[in-house]
Amino acid sequence: MSGSSRSEQTRLLIVEDVPQVAQYIRGLLNAQSSVKLLDVLTDGGKAIAQIRELRPDVVLVDALLQGRVKGPKLVEQIHEARLNIPVIVLTVPQHPVEEDPANGVHGILAMPFSGYDLLTRIATVRKAHAVHSPEAMSRVYSVFAPKGGVGKTTIAFNLAVAMGQQEQRTVLIDGSLQFGDLRSLLKVPVDAPSILDLPTDRIAESDLADVLWRDPSGIDILLAPPRIEMAEMINPRDVDKILSLLRRVYNAVVIDMSSIISDINLSFLDASDTIVEIVTYDSTTIHNTIAMAATFRSIGYPASKVHYLVNRADSSGGIDPEDLHRALGRVPEHRVVSDGPLVVRANNDGVPFVLADPAAAVSQDVTRVAVELLGAGRAPVAAARR
Ligand SMILES: Nc1ncnc2c1ncn2[C@@H]1O[C@H](COP(=O)(O)OP(=O)(O)OP(=O)(O)O)[C@@H](O)[C@H]1O
Ligand SMILES: [Mg+2]
Repeated sequence: MSGSSRSEQTRLLIVEDVPQVAQYIRGLLNAQSSVKLLDVLTDGGKAIAQIRELRPDVVLVDALLQGRVKGPKLVEQIHEARLNIPVIVLTVPQHPVEEDPANGVHGILAMPFSGYDLLTRIATVRKAHAVHSPEAMSRVYSVFAPKGGVGKTTIAFNLAVAMGQQEQRTVLIDGSLQFGDLRSLLKVPVDAPSILDLPTDRIAESDLADVLWRDPSGIDILLAPPRIEMAEMINPRDVDKILSLLRRVYNAVVIDMSSIISDINLSFLDASDTIVEIVTYDSTTIHNTIAMAATFRSIGYPASKVHYLVNRADSSGGIDPEDLHRALGRVPEHRVVSDGPLVVRANNDGVPFVLADPAAAVSQDVTRVAVELLGAGRAPVAAARR
């Protein structure tokens, strides 16, 4: 699984102004590799900025920290900054501190402690936090195809709306940064905010409301830049930061992608829990899909990361479905039928067909895909295969 925030090694930041204590902890951490010490800060007044920059998994704060910002004040500041990073308070028996996760004290470590105590406390706090963190509950789905014009934008938009209908807080990202299709599909004004308006250096949840397009269909949309050349202003690191921010706020993140393998697109794909790869029954699809599967294998994606979705599954255009299945090495996970009149009319009106005509077969299919994907996300090992 990708996404640096989920790696096994715990990145620790310490705020401690007593050199002997810092030295003792460094010594304990030297002999092992499960915890990586990022830095020891001595000035509580500079800690918030450093935490924002380094994004540790766990912060250890000395309750007796002196200076402008003292220990308890710093713990409070970290909590109020909503950095979503668990804090362990280091203290002495004469100065007892209560564990209080609701107020930002996620664990206590009292002196004297052993290396074992230190490592177990860090592991426990990180694990408890991961379970409760909204990021752990969030899923990223990229809608991709090696071939253009197969229905990525149509499916991504309707899939996102269908997920919203399943009570999931959903955001749709226009990942075609150069030729963002959603702008014209949804008829948004040119001056609508876009991905460019998101400050990636100091991102905060409160910034989100200003940069997302709130669609009448009930989902939020992060639009592509308004002009083609502006796409270059977004780099892969921005993409990582944006996705990690959106994960904290949304249950489902759906990305409408372009059909190229670029650094940006690899960032989207890496960060995805599931790649929904659209295939159609035509002769070029088989070739492209096989080539794509080989590329994904060489990148190291497990086969289960990709779900194939056959779009316009009822019009096999002379291709034997069995040929496609053989090429994919399995029966595609999802299928959506063709419905020219409804899809074209809905796209022209800038509305999702899943809302315009929920009873239509094409709408029912997309809703089923949404339910299956969300189900697969909730219980990653079980079923969801047909
Ligand atoms: N299930 C469907 N039934 C009928 N028409 C469909 C269906 N899916 C997509 N289409 C039509 O196919 C055309 C291409 O769809 P879309 O723009 O979503 O593809 P795309 O993969 O995003 O293209 P691009 O590679 O240019 O981004 C559109 O005109 C759309 O209305
Ligand atoms: Mg498109």
